[in-house]
Amino acid sequence: MDKEGLAEISARYVHFADTEARGRSPLYEALARAVAEDWETLDFLSTLPDLKRQPNLLLAAVRHLFGTPTGWAEFRQALLAHLHAVRSLMLERSTQTNEPGRCATLLPVLSRLPQPLALIEVGTSAGLCLMPDLYGYDYGRKAIRAPTMASEPPVFRCLASETTPLPAALPQVVWRAGLDLNPIDASDDTQVAWLETLVWPEQTARLANLRAALKIAATVKPRVVKGDLRGSDLVQLCSEAPKDATLVIFHTAVLDYVSDPADREAFAEQAMRLAPCWVSNEFPRVFPSIATRAGRSLPPGRFLLSVNRSPLAWTDPHGASLEWIADEA
Ligand SMILES: C[S@@+](CC[C@H](N)C(=O)[O-])C[C@H]1O[C@@H](n2cnc3c(N)ncnc32)[C@H](O)[C@@H]1O
Repeated sequence: MDKEGLAEISARYVHFADTEARGRSPLYEALARAVAEDWETLDFLSTLPDLKRQPNLLLAAVRHLFGTPTGWAEFRQALLAHLHAVRSLMLERSTQTNEPGRCATLLPVLSRLPQPLALIEVGTSAGLCLMPDLYGYDYGRKAIRAPTMASEPPVFRCLASETTPLPAALPQVVWRAGLDLNPIDASDDTQVAWLETLVWPEQTARLANLRAALKIAATVKPRVVKGDLRGSDLVQLCSEAPKDATLVIFHTAVLDYVSDPADREAFAEQAMRLAPCWVSNEFPRVFPSIATRAGRSLPPGRFLLSVNRSPLAWTDPHGASLEWIADEA
């Protein structure tokens, strides 16, 4: 690859350091900045397909194989000594995550619906967001938690704005199922280990919560079906839901992966035809017509939570905060 190509990869790592890692992970910020200036590492990245050059993937692959490095020198030494192993892992894996903390931002919606609920999550990954009724939540001025099952539930902290209608009770879920193009098997140690590595190094509370949610999934075994949210797989799943429960189709951090806006719109129309309640928690660019209705300049780096196309709240992408914007509360 010529110098211009390497400079483009370098700029991607600087962008990651500036916009994603800064303030969240000092180690990842430092490593990304160092990669951006290291020609040998850039040269290695240039041998990978474009999609596989992502900072998150490189950083996770090295940590997965050799543990969390203390800094750049250790990271670089491990990488350059094992280029083949790192390359194979980066080609084999992706940065597919599952963040159960997002349930904290869904809960105010789910708890207000006519109970009981039948939940269908599209893009469910390992199915961890399918169990919002089995976790604990701390909204600062109010806390709520499920009774302990075989293991302690994780407790998700979420800073909720004053007008947020905080849930009085957990939703009553009588049926749950997820759909994913590439489901993660929560009972497979190798897949779980990779899921854990994708949590950034300093985010120890997030990792503890992920592990606690995985333990609950090991008991509950939420049903996850392999399939595409576009088309008949969703229709089939909806037909299996009990008729005496409110059917909710929801998704968080998924529709960005559906690149054609027409496909996203077709999905939205289908979801509203199939269920009385369609909950979307996505970057506002995913459904621009809903974002326009949110009524003010878009806060950067936030998801927009909406129900049946009505914007309700701006949410932190990992569920750490929630700013209610709907008039009614
Ligand atoms: C970033 S993960 C989010 C997982 C989960 N919703 C969460 O919030 O933690 C995106 C998921 O969407 C799935 N996905 C992407 N496109 C899809 C499609 N067309 N149909 C079904 N699942 C899809 C991916 O396989 C992946 O598991």
